[in-house]
Amino acid sequence: MKKNIVLIGFMGSGKTTIGRLLAKQLDYSFLDTDEEIEQKENKTINKIFAEQGEKYFRTCETKLLEELSNSNEKCIISTGGGMPLLKENGKLLKKTGFVVYLSVQKDTVMERLKNDTTRPLLAGDSMEKKVEDLLEFRNPIYEYTAHMMIKTDYKSIEEIVEEIIRNYKIMEGNSELEQKNS
Ligand code: S3P
Repeated sequence: MKKNIVLIGFMGSGKTTIGRLLAKQLDYSFLDTDEEIEQKENKTINKIFAEQGEKYFRTCETKLLEELSNSNEKCIISTGGGMPLLKENGKLLKKTGFVVYLSVQKDTVMERLKNDTTRPLLAGDSMEKKVEDLLEFRNPIYEYTAHMMIKTDYKSIEEIVEEIIRNYKIMEGNSELEQKNS
């Protein structure tokens, strides 16, 4: 069995909320990479972006992922929406655990994040255009990085968690069978 389940996906796809419930149901511990980086840097994401820039934040993400990929804990890991963008991170994510992509449509993101002030990449004018462009660019990367994709629009958190657990068990069962037969 793979040790961790890693959630990837766009801002507002519900990674943190879903991750927490998933961890509770599977009795795994839970880690959110944004929260971890904020603690390590002792600053909010907004402040890191404003003072050190996005590139610096991305190096924090890679460093943390390197640590996580070497740990043996059974953990649900919720990642920042840009985590899979760097090629090396894509490989590290797969090494870290079973990667689940929580997909989300533009309208759902707009509804969930319309009053949000914590996402520097969506701050300022033309949020809708920013979301649209980022989704178009990132969706293929999320798909490429994940072992499994779950559509989250119009579903409750409980439904999504149940779907992840069901599919995870099926897919992990299959890979164990493959290993036995090889
Ligand atoms: C980002 C997503 C954020 C956070 C940072 C950058 C992104 O995390 O890591 O603002 O590039 O998509 P959430 O996906 O948890 O909002």
